[in-house]
Amino acid sequence: MIKQAIIPLAGLGTRLLPLTSVLPKELLPINGRPGLEYILDECVKSGIKKIILIISSKKISIKKYFYSDKFYKGLIKKKKDKRLKIEYSKIRKYKKMIRFVFQNSPKGTGDAVLKCKKYINSNYFLMLMPDDLIMNNNCSKSLIKLHKKFNASVIASKKVDKKDVSRWGIFDPMKIDKKNFIIKDVIEKPSMRSAPSNFAVIGRYILPKTIFKILAKQKPGKNGEIHITDSIRTLIQKKNKFIGHNFAGKYLDCGSMSGYIKSSLKISKL
Ligand code: G1P
Repeated sequence: MIKQAIIPLAGLGTRLLPLTSVLPKELLPINGRPGLEYILDECVKSGIKKIILIISSKKISIKKYFYSDKFYKGLIKKKKDKRLKIEYSKIRKYKKMIRFVFQNSPKGTGDAVLKCKKYINSNYFLMLMPDDLIMNNNCSKSLIKLHKKFNASVIASKKVDKKDVSRWGIFDPMKIDKKNFIIKDVIEKPSMRSAPSNFAVIGRYILPKTIFKILAKQKPGKNGEIHITDSIRTLIQKKNKFIGHNFAGKYLDCGSMSGYIKSSLKISKL
């Protein structure tokens, strides 16, 4: 059973500067709610019970967002505002599920995930990248179902423009059916020439606990960062089964400025 999720939030958010010079990108509003809340909702609705948020000391405001009891309690007493009560009870519900882990130097997603090693107590866990919002369909829930069916790791996928492959991890897929494929290989941000396809890694993963062993030895890759993609690649080479899933639902890339700008409008129209 997959009951634990990891969400890496320690990234610098440079693609969204200047908005992120003071505010963490995950707290930026998207149609009136912080982006992070959409991700947490997806987790909760897919049956996840424990969530690890990886932050850095520079992004301590993410922790404060969930630890503002005194502030809310005082205001609720004074104002008797129903909306405040609802918002506060939602935050309290999340808080009970969340543990914070710190990654103070931005060495990459792989390094961030490794920091959670001692807290993962089942064979597989879910990982969600906060830049990727998927609306109208719970992608995590679909991946969990597929994990049960294939007894394998699963990663969300989406066909992207060939000219954009260097923005993503890219799969070498072997078709199973219309929506699913076996992942024969995966390469982090390849050039157009070296990309094995235009099926991109989208930030929803079901990963095995055994990845921690690989991550502990993982050498820095693209741009000097320790990438989860490179350790997944090693697991595939060691004959671990990985399934790619072309998810249903509307994808919003909130990690780029143009995607972020469009996301509120798109969500408001759903
Ligand atoms: C990360 C992953 C990449 C994946 C992407 C999805 O990249 O390293 O493989 O395609 O998330 O959003 P980042 O967005 O951190 O550059």
